[in-house]
Amino acid sequence: VFDQNTWRLFGPALEGTSGVEDRCVLPGGEEAKRWESVLGIASRAVDAGLGRDGWFLAVGGGAVCDVTAFAASVYMRGAMLHLVPTTLLAMVDASLGGKTGVDFAGLKNMLGSFYPAHRVDLPLDALCSLPEGEYRSGLGEVLKTALLGDAELYRLLAVRSEAVLSRDRATMADVVARCLGVKAAIVARDPRESGDRAFLNLGHTFAHALESVAGLGTIRHGEAVAWGLGRAMELGARLALTPPRYRDEVMDLLSRYGFATGGAAQLLAGRPEAQAHAADRLLEVMRGDKKKRSGRIRFVLQRAHADTVVSSEVPEHALRAVLEG
Ligand SMILES: NC(=O)c1ccc[n+]([C@@H]2O[C@H](COP(=O)([O-])OP(=O)(O)OC[C@H]3O[C@@H](n4cnc5c(N)ncnc54)[C@H](O)[C@@H]3O)[C@@H](O)[C@H]2O)c1
Repeated sequence: VFDQNTWRLFGPALEGTSGVEDRCVLPGGEEAKRWESVLGIASRAVDAGLGRDGWFLAVGGGAVCDVTAFAASVYMRGAMLHLVPTTLLAMVDASLGGKTGVDFAGLKNMLGSFYPAHRVDLPLDALCSLPEGEYRSGLGEVLKTALLGDAELYRLLAVRSEAVLSRDRATMADVVARCLGVKAAIVARDPRESGDRAFLNLGHTFAHALESVAGLGTIRHGEAVAWGLGRAMELGARLALTPPRYRDEVMDLLSRYGFATGGAAQLLAGRPEAQAHAADRLLEVMRGDKKKRSGRIRFVLQRAHADTVVSSEVPEHALRAVLEG
């Protein structure tokens, strides 16, 4: 299973390989994550006479990986799954942890399952063809992961930012492997997201609200996450949980990679309708989100590098001040 872009980029090299004639080529990006894609993939598998010992192979970003994994998880109650993530985000995040899914009824990941892949290959060379925006978006999740664990990864990202930004292969091999190590340790402690796995949402309460206020799809997820990391540090510092020195260190790291570290208005510049009363609108989205869950807005905060806590005791005035920057 490819999307239009990954088929164009990587298909020719696979021509003649057994199974390639049974391929599905989905639309590019989030458009691939639809129920219709699951039916399309399943139909191809039936036509190819695939049994439950047959392999579903995904070559693409998180969207292709998520939808292929979902199709594999329900095909004959579970077929073999091989993921070949081709974006930085999919390498460090979507390929590990077993979450699968498609968007449904206008909502992200509404239908899905937990189904870890049987095999994952990481084609690091694929990073070279990624558009700059997609690469930066992956870096947002990389920075988040580095705050959660692995002191060496955190150090490496600070001192080798040029190598990381220029996609140096050896450096990125180390970065990707270390990110997977951090995520694997968290997922192993909490495979079905009832506890520590929430740590992986560091920066995400802010990020989701920003993405929604800006208009879905206008700000890349990883860019929003990077901004959310800074806001989480600022909030932690206001609550006297995060030492100012650690907050400043993280802000420096974010700036080194060119990510925004100020209030929401900075990121919404050029979108006057979203920028007006940005803090009010973000708070509104956060409150709406909270209703869908357990009734309180939950923030992932840090006391230090690799020392993470989840808190729902956040006074609104502190939150508003942090959103305003
Ligand atoms: N399952 C999980 O745990 C998990 C974790 C994080 C994100 N996700 C999901 O991943 C999706 C986002 O993934 P993404 O950021 O990889 O986006 P994506 O899959 O939409 O890919 C982004 C774009 O890059 C193109 N592309 C892919 N590889 C390329 C390459 N090597 N060179 C050039 N272009 C290439 C794609 O065709 C697409 O247009 C979201 O749907 C998100 O929900 C899942």
